[in-house]
Formats: sequence, structure tokens, C-alpha cells
Amino acid sequence: MCGIFAYLNYNVNRERSYILQVLFNGLRRLEYRGYDSAGISIDNDFSFSRNPNTPQSSSDTSLSSSPLVFRQEGNIESLVKAVYQEVAGIELNLEKSFTTHAGIAHTRWATHGEPAPRNSHPQTSGSGNDFVVVHNGVITNYEVLKETLVRHGFTFESETDTEVIPKLAKFVFDKANEEGDQTVTFSQVVLEVMRHLEGAYALIFKSWHYPNELIACKRGSPLLLGVKELNDDGCNGSAFHDAKFLSKNSNPKELFLSSDANAIIEHTKKVLVIEDGEVVHLKEGGISILKFSNGKGRNGDSRSARPASVQRALSILDMEVEQINKGKYKHYMQKEIHEQPESLTTTMRGRLLRGGSCKAKTVLLGGLKDHLKTISRSRRIVFIGCGTSYNAALAARPILEELSGVPVTMEIASDLLDRQGLIYREDTVVFVSQSGETADTLLALEYALENGALCVGITNTVGSVIARNTHCGVHINAGAEIGVASTKAYTSQIVVMAMLALAIGADTISKKERREAIIDGLFDLPNKIREVLKLDQEMKDLAKLLIAEQSLLVFGRGYNYATALEGALKVKEVALMHSEGILAGEMKHGPLALVDENLPIVVIATRDACFSKQQSVIQQLRARKGRLIVMCSKGDAAAVCPGGGCRVIEVPQVEDCLQPVVNIVPFQLLAYHLTVLRGYNVDQPRNLAKSVTTQ
Ligand code: F6R
Repeated sequence: MCGIFAYLNYNVNRERSYILQVLFNGLRRLEYRGYDSAGISIDNDFSFSRNPNTPQSSSDTSLSSSPLVFRQEGNIESLVKAVYQEVAGIELNLEKSFTTHAGIAHTRWATHGEPAPRNSHPQTSGSGNDFVVVHNGVITNYEVLKETLVRHGFTFESETDTEVIPKLAKFVFDKANEEGDQTVTFSQVVLEVMRHLEGAYALIFKSWHYPNELIACKRGSPLLLGVKELNDDGCNGSAFHDAKFLSKNSNPKELFLSSDANAIIEHTKKVLVIEDGEVVHLKEGGISILKFSNGKGRNGDSRSARPASVQRALSILDMEVEQINKGKYKHYMQKEIHEQPESLTTTMRGRLLRGGSCKAKTVLLGGLKDHLKTISRSRRIVFIGCGTSYNAALAARPILEELSGVPVTMEIASDLLDRQGLIYREDTVVFVSQSGETADTLLALEYALENGALCVGITNTVGSVIARNTHCGVHINAGAEIGVASTKAYTSQIVVMAMLALAIGADTISKKERREAIIDGLFDLPNKIREVLKLDQEMKDLAKLLIAEQSLLVFGRGYNYATALEGALKVKEVALMHSEGILAGEMKHGPLALVDENLPIVVIATRDACFSKQQSVIQQLRARKGRLIVMCSKGDAAAVCPGGGCRVIEVPQVEDCLQPVVNIVPFQLLAYHLTVLRGYNVDQPRNLAKSVTTQ
């Protein structure tokens, strides 16, 4: 969880106030990844080294030259306030210029240790801040490392797993110096540290022994390097694809390290996606990369591996700054709900074909074309995901079963791992994840790969671990989703999985008409979403009515069981109201006991094969004086609620398998308005973060 960021200006004068601004803005872009505490490390007025082999200042005795570390509980703005107060307090000069300066920053979602300054990052090697580190991920063997370091005289201040890292770096550095190796480089120190770390991590190191240098390394957690030459327009980067650019040169430049592209795109589009096992060293205008030869060593760690120098080319980010701004909206969640007609269009672009010489209606999923036969001959298709991504897969399950003829089973990633559930070589396992970096889903992927299954990734994040480690897959292309509550990714995921069903079943003549109707439905879906978005005010009115409620039940079945789960999840996670999605077929087996005239209940009863069953559910709830809100297809108010007495939400009707895409929108709007009216933070719900990169 957590976001890490660094900014290195090389050979270009930047005032401290500017450097702070870049670091804070980087953190603001990453804040959705965690927002319970934050911190930065910048240089003091005197940046010099205690390493005998690097140039020293004449006043090389004062601790005031060690990197400054600021850590604060709360969101980024609390950090900003604290830094300026503290800077004023210790009379540091905000106008001071640095020709070259390396700063690092972190925004945290607590895993080990409560949100508190001592548990925030950067974590340090101790007084003097010889080594300071920001970390995203989890070090699983930190207890063993801590015991060893304590035996060597280190004292620990935090409850974090991260604190072992800077302390280990100091231990390695001191040992090398004691043994007479005074030429030990920053990357050698970090490589040695990495050999001892187990778990998932993306790390950025700063050290006063190596002024103006940064080291970034990773295993499992994402990390990008952005490169901006100052005479560079930031986008036409053919020259920069040349790996030679990465070598040392004195051109003024700015380098950015970040957990994701959101914090880089406003500076440059040229990036290096750092790979597992790589150690990236930023020094004197150059970028050198060392990589453990096989990515991983014996026992899944890097101890047995040998690092080698690698050449890499930069790539160009396929995104625009506008995508990560709120535009005319107050919140990211609101923006992302309202941009669904466009995000769905992008998801389908170039993938649906209608017309042509044979007037065929087909689906083209480039990333899967060589694997469709294998998938259609699988013993099972197994969907794996967490939270909203799981719900999206659940919504797509019926159409996949219907069109492919292959049994489809569902697995919540953590549950599969807890049970060590069965995965066979003959299975196709589909991993659904917006971020592509959810820890449980990644571990389930490793497990499925070990068991020899064909692994397919469905993700929104190009270059993510899931995108890279699966055999094949489809990007949902929904654009950056920044609101912590997933909205547009959900609808795009369902559409991609519907297209997957169409592609797998493409040869079955008996289903041709059904397939073509779905393709027509997909073409028209953005319009239908535009129509359902007009319910905004109606959902706001409903939110006003429900504002003081304690609880909300949502009944759905068939295609819309997933809608019930996802609708309830949205209300729960942002509006902080208890809400439960219930399979309507289970109503009589327990939930009916809750029904009275007070508890609000939404019943989803849009037209599909389950419609008459839902009519009967409504009757039974009304017989028990249930307080009903019924979602039905346009014009069906009287059919679902004869004689009136329920509140009705009418939505446009579409093909049954696409109806969950339409039906979720009113729930998204309801959750959004409820949250705003209740005065909670829409984009940063309590205790949550966007990417759950820890188990
Ligand atoms: C809820 C939500 C989460 C995520 C879940 C999986 O709105 O966003 O439930 O869906 O944490 O995340 P991804 O899809 O990134 O694997």
C-alpha cells in the first residue's frame, strides 16, 4: 500500500521551496494509495559526505549536514503544514538553491504500527540519518533481521518492518569501511541489503555518504523512473529510447521516481518501468541499472543471484495530465462515475467489429488471440479477484458459462490461498485487478502458475505485475482511476469479460444471434450509461432520505447478484453505512427476519430470466411491510410495485448480461451523494487505500 516518490534535479538550480513543492505535489498524486501519514527527506544547507572517497565540505563534522527528515501523522496537507512550521522553527532557508539535490517522499497506509510520526517514512538508520529509506510493500523476514541488528547494537524506534532496511544499509556500509573497503558504492550497499530482504518491496534510498545520489530497487511492488531533460518537450522521445541516454551526461535534467505514473506525467512522459530485481542508481546525471541475473535467487530470494549491468530503453507513457485532474468535478469518484460513457468507449475501441464485407459482428482481443482455443478447451475457467474486481467477474460469470460452455468457478484470492484450493493444469485462471498489484491476487497468480494453469490477466494498469506475469490478457483501458472506490474500472471490467465470452464462443453457430445482439448492445452501452447518469438528482434525493439510516440491504439475483454485492460495497466503503448485498434466492433462509417497516431495502428487478422470481420476492417483502426501493426497467413501475407504495428507480433496459453495467450506476451515485451529505471524504474513505499491496 503506500506511495513513494523522489525528485532529483541535476545540474539545474532549484530553490528549496521548489524542491519541496515537487515532492509535495508528487505525494498529492499518490495520496490515494495511503493517507494516514506522510514524510519527506531533503538535504540540509550543507550537503556533504563522511565517505572518505567523496568530496567533503570544510565543515564536515556537524550533524546539521545530515539529511533532514520530516514525518507527520495525517494526510499530505498535515505534512506540508508541519514542514513549513518546522522549517521556520529551525530557520532553514527556503530560498536556498541547490544545483543538484535528491529528495525522497512517502505517503503511508499503515500495516506495521499505528499511524504516528515514528512509524512514518522515511525510516532512518538512526541519529545522523546516514541512510534514509521510503518503502512500499512488506518485508516478511524483518523480525529475524531486526534481531540480528539488535545484537549488533542497533536500537529501533518504530514498529515498522521498514526500519530494518536503512539500519541494514548502515551495517553493510560500516562493515565495508571497517574491513578497509572505503570505495564501497551506494549500489553495492543496496545490493547487499537486497540480498537479505524477503517479501515485496519498492524502495528508494538516500544517504549522506552519497550526496546527490539516489538508489531505487524493487521486487513485487511497482516503481517507475521518469526522465526529463530540461530542453526536452517531454513527449517526442525517440532519441531517448536509445539506452545510451541512460549513461552519464552532464545535461541539466530532472529525474522522478514514483510508485505510479500519476505523479510523473505532469513532468515528463518518458519513463523506465523498473523491473523486479533491478537496482537503479542515479548519480552525476547518469542512470545505471544492475539486475540480479535471474530476478530471484534460490528460495525465492536474491541471495544466490549475481547482479549484472543491464541496458534498458525508456518508454513513453500513454496518458495525459487531464486524466489525473478532477476537471469540473468536486471529487475523483464523481468524475469517474460521470466519465463512464467515455471509459467504456475506450475499453471497446478497436475490439468490436460490425459490418465489413461479410457483415459479421465479431470481437477482437489481440492479447488473447493465440490462446482462445486453449481457453475454450479448458477443464474450468476460474475467476480470481478481490473486492470490486471479484464482483465484476461474478457479474460476467453467467455469460461466460453460457457462451463458452466451460464451467466457470469463482475464487476470492485470499480464500483460495487460505484453502490452498485446487487449481489444475487444464484450468484457465483469469485474474481480475484494476491496479494489477493487489497482494492477494498476485500470490494467487504465483500459486496458479506453480500449478501449471494458463493464466490470463484483466487489468487497468499497463506494466503492472499481473499484466507482466500472466501468460496473456486484456487491458481494460478505463484510464487512471484515482478515487479509492472503484467505479469506472468495474464497468469496464464487466465489458471486457463479456467480450472475452464473445471471443471464446465465437465459433458456436447456434449462439450467433445471441452474440450479435450482445455486440449491438455493447455498441449502444455508452448511450445507455449517459441515460442512466441522468438519475443523478434522483439519487441525491434518495441519499437525503437515507442519510440517517444505520443500514441498507440490497437484494439481487442472476446477473444482478453481483450488482447487489457491488452496490452494497460502494455504500459501505465510502458512506460508512452498513450495507449488505444479498442473493435474493436466499432471502427466506435467514435475511427475511430483518425485514420491518424501518429497514430500507433495495430490490433489483430489471427484466431478465429472473424477473418473475424478483416480483415474487417483492410481494413477500411487502407482505412483511418492508420499506422497499425497487430498481426496475423503464416503464415497469406498475409491474414491480402494483398499487404503488414503493420508491422506484427506473433504468434503461439492455441485453441481460450487460444490465449489471447499467444497474450499478445508480448505486455509485447514491453512495457518492450519501458520502458527501454525511460529510465524509469521498475519495479517501476511512482506513482504506487504493492498492492493497499487503496481505
Ligand atoms: C472497492 C475497491 C476494492 C478493490 C480491491 C481489489 O471499491 O476498489 O474492493 O476492488 O481492493 O483491487 P484491484 O482491482 O486493484 O485488484
